[in-house]
Amino acid sequence: MFAVIWVTCLLQCLLMNSIGVVADDSVPDYSGDTLHGTWSSKSNQVFTGPGFYDPVDELLIEPSLPGISISFTEDGFYEEAWYRVAGNAKDPRCPTAVLIFQHGKYEVLTNGTLKLYPFEVDGRQLLSDPCNDGGVSAYTRYSQVGTYLSFYTVLDDYHGVFKLQLFEFDGTPLQPLYLAYRPPIMLPTITLNPTASGSEDSSSDETSSAVAKRSLRSLVKRNLENRYKTNAVKKQRSIFNSSTVWYACMTVICICSAAFIFS
Ligand SMILES: *[C@@H]1O[C@H](CO)[C@@H](O)[C@H](O)[C@H]1NC(C)=O
Repeated sequence: MFAVIWVTCLLQCLLMNSIGVVADDSVPDYSGDTLHGTWSSKSNQVFTGPGFYDPVDELLIEPSLPGISISFTEDGFYEEAWYRVAGNAKDPRCPTAVLIFQHGKYEVLTNGTLKLYPFEVDGRQLLSDPCNDGGVSAYTRYSQVGTYLSFYTVLDDYHGVFKLQLFEFDGTPLQPLYLAYRPPIMLPTITLNPTASGSEDSSSDETSSAVAKRSLRSLVKRNLENRYKTNAVKKQRSIFNSSTVWYACMTVICICSAAFIFS
């Protein structure tokens, strides 16, 4: 009788092992344990790191297509890069574009909410409204705490890559982001411009003090692909998490053994 139970346990374990490959990754992870890495929206043109923001010359570099990228380290730092273009219904030749760089620390609250706390002095925004700003884009400091009501990571079966789904503070889903690099491509996770008079600037409003005005055209465009796709490992899909499967196996064996002993 014992042998029958034990063999059943063993078979179940083997079965779990074989389906574990799929089951483990396709279960949404709300914990933040798999958040580390560089995530990028579908256009796959916007990536955090020095290809988006050059902190030495304080340049925001316009990617070839709009998109979003957010990176997380395992030790609590994040960086975000946004490039949004809004069409102009009245005049299609006059789209407005905005580039935003922020970095700082993040926190996953126990209720699953994700908070992003930027280093206030480092955030930058470049707003281009070509038909109204006379060709001079507004380059300003930018600091806004990010609140995502919830989020999860999951293996996207269709694309075969890991997906990060963020939900805005009101629950609206953000466009999905896909894992591009792990470990992440990021600028140093320290305050980059500590000399700027940002210490007294405690407001986290969307509007912030203008630090400079530069023409978008004067900012250097660089080819991100050639600079980055070579020196970092592009993450496709990770192999199943063997430790999870192992613990599941041991749990099943323990339960079965206990069931035998106490029966
Ligand atoms: C989690 O807690 C924070 C702070 O108390 C709150 O702002 C947020 O709405 C909560 N999230 C959910 C999903 O309830």
